[in-house]
Amino acid sequence: MWPFHTCNNNLYMKTNITICLGSSCFSRGNNKNLEIIKEFISTRGLDAEVTFKGQLCSENCFQGPILIINGKTFSEVSKNKLIDILEKELNNHE
Ligand code: FES
Repeated sequence: MWPFHTCNNNLYMKTNITICLGSSCFSRGNNKNLEIIKEFISTRGLDAEVTFKGQLCSENCFQGPILIINGKTFSEVSKNKLIDILEKELNNHE
């Protein structure tokens, strides 16, 4: 059924979250963002609704840390910015 999931017998597209794990993004914040995202997904019970994966450097290091949600790229993702992004982008799944 991937990339779909069901909720109340309705079919929904899964949310795809990709975090850059290249050395620049990783050292500039994605090392912590990685844990925050995992905790966010877990505490909200979104494991079945979210696909979370890492990617290698996409050569946008100067804009890092980079996060991509459903093909939309977020740059300079600080810890505070990350929570806002996750809450906004995953709002339909709560
Ligand atoms: S390390 Fe993330 S874009 Fe280069």
